[in-house]
Amino acid sequence: MRLTISTVLALGLMAGCLDLESPPPPPPPDNPGTPDAGVVIDEPDAEPLPVDALAQWSGCMTIANWDTALMGAWANKPTEGGTVCSSCHGDGLARFHTDVDNNAMFQMNRYEVFISGFFTQTVGPSGIEVVPAVEKLRLKGGGAGDHPTYNTSPSDPYFLALDQFHQLTLGVKQAGTCGPAEFPP
Ligand code: HEC
Repeated sequence: MRLTISTVLALGLMAGCLDLESPPPPPPPDNPGTPDAGVVIDEPDAEPLPVDALAQWSGCMTIANWDTALMGAWANKPTEGGTVCSSCHGDGLARFHTDVDNNAMFQMNRYEVFISGFFTQTVGPSGIEVVPAVEKLRLKGGGAGDHPTYNTSPSDPYFLALDQFHQLTLGVKQAGTCGPAEFPP
C-alpha cells in the first residue's frame, strides 16, 4: 500500500515536473495598442491612434500651467513698428488668438480652431506627438508673407514660455491626469 501511494505521489511529482518543463508559450513581446490606448508613450511601433492628438492635448492643458509659464504674455509680445501680437490677433485673426484677457486667451487656445496657433502634430519616436509650432512662429516672425517681424531667438522669453507650457502639459499627459480627450464644447 505504501509503495502504491509513493508511486502515485512520485507520478504526481513527475507530472508536476513535466508541467513545469513545458510552460505555456510566452506572450508575444509587443502587445499591439488597444483602441483606447490613447496615452501610450512607450510603443515605438504604435499605429496612429484613433484619438485626435490635438484634442487630447487640449484636454491636458490647464490654466495653472498656462499661468506658471506666463503664456498670456504673448498678447504683449512686441512686433516691428510698435505693435504687439494682440494689436491684430486679440480676437483670433488668422486663427492665432492672443487675447489681452489671459483667461480668455487660455480658453480660446483650447479650441480646435485656435490650438494650432501654438501647437502642431508630428510623428516622433512614440508615435504622434504634439509639439510647439515653433517653425511656423519663426517663419511669421521672420516676415513671411509680409507679416510684421518679431524676435524669434531661442532665448526669447515668449518662446521660452511656450517651451515651458509644452513641457508642463506633457507632464500632465504622462501623469495620466488629463481631462477628457476632447476640445471644449
Ligand atoms: C499688424 C498686424 C499684426 C500683428 C501686430 C501681428 N500679426 Fe500675426 N498675422 C497678421 C496677419 C494679417 C496674418 C495673416 C496673414 C499671414 O499669415 O501673414 C497673421 C498671421 C499670423 C500667424 C499665422 C497663423 C497660422 O497659424 O497660420 C501667426 C502664427 C502669427 N500671425 C503670429 C503673430 C505673433 C506671434 C505676433 C506677435 C509677436 C503677431 N502675429 C503680430 C497680422 C499681425
